[in-house]
Amino acid sequence: MKRIFSGIQPTHKMHLGNYLGAVRNWVRLQSEDYETIFCAVDLHALTVPQDPQALRANTRELLATLIAVGIDPKKSILFAQSQVPEHTELAWLFSCLTPMGWLKRMTQFKDKAGKHQDLAMHGLLAYPVLMAADILLYHATHVPVGEDQKQHLELTREIAGSFNHRFERDYFPLPEPQILGEAARVMSLRDGSKKMSKSDSSDYSRISLTDDADTIALKIRKARTDPDPVPSDRENMDSRPEARNLLTIYASLADTTIDAVIAERGGESFSTFKAALADLAVSVLSPISQELDRLTADPAQLDAILRENGARAREIARGTIADVKDTMGLINID
Ligand code: TYM
Repeated sequence: MKRIFSGIQPTHKMHLGNYLGAVRNWVRLQSEDYETIFCAVDLHALTVPQDPQALRANTRELLATLIAVGIDPKKSILFAQSQVPEHTELAWLFSCLTPMGWLKRMTQFKDKAGKHQDLAMHGLLAYPVLMAADILLYHATHVPVGEDQKQHLELTREIAGSFNHRFERDYFPLPEPQILGEAARVMSLRDGSKKMSKSDSSDYSRISLTDDADTIALKIRKARTDPDPVPSDRENMDSRPEARNLLTIYASLADTTIDAVIAERGGESFSTFKAALADLAVSVLSPISQELDRLTADPAQLDAILRENGARAREIARGTIADVKDTMGLINID
């Protein structure tokens, strides 16, 4: 069986990097030969301080956004991580099989904890163990993500391998990352050396899926570029990260390749190119906003979907936990 699991944090609104780098692939993979499970990972969001009201609202809005972009809760299982307590249970069991050294070498931990690692919360260090639990709880074989999650996926494979080896069972699959398309790493609109991120303090660094047409056009107009025209070959592009990023976004939104965009638009001035990019972004994103408005107008419908989907997820999760408890020597009485 081929099963996909992936997750997204409800820390802020979903941005174009999340969408083009990961979530659009989730939508497409639903029509292939996989079982698909997608999750708003609200427990992960708690690794940095959150306002409780805002976290709850963001989680619901994110789940509605996932439906608006095309995750079909009848085809896929779609839920919030905290609905299924087995995620944290498996994370504990895995944390007893994961050396600290593996966690301390994670780049995201080093970036987020900065110079004061001893002051960072334990949850921030333990984060990748919870992520491994998310994936392995469902025996997922494939995990569609953006490039920044590659290292966490390697760790997940190490934890799965270490469980299998320690207990001499071929129990967990070693999940494959699926890093697909031209937009596996979308960069900030303000700085081509930083990835587009929910935590950037500047709202102009990212386009959110809920931005209206005027905001999208303004953010693209203000996006940093250099004085030269649109690159007309790849060679010319490598030393120009901001130009490359806008070409990547264009190619991905138009569902084509960067080479095709260079062939069509190379040599154009950036003001002309940005106007075309803004039109393209609005044409892709505005139907999503409209669908989201419709979904948020009916919170009871979203609750019903989450209740049903959370129960489907939990049924699978319970089976894994029973097996793992049994394997690790814990009492398992129902
Ligand atoms: P998160 O919430 O940061 O991002 C969700 C997805 O979006 C991708 N992504 C990007 N892709 C391209 N360009 C960007 N600038 C960009 N920014 C984000 C991410 O790679 C991700 O695929 N740890 C995960 C959430 C998680 C998870 C999981 C993922 C928790 N458990 C289990 C997969 C499986 C995270 O923080 O993603």
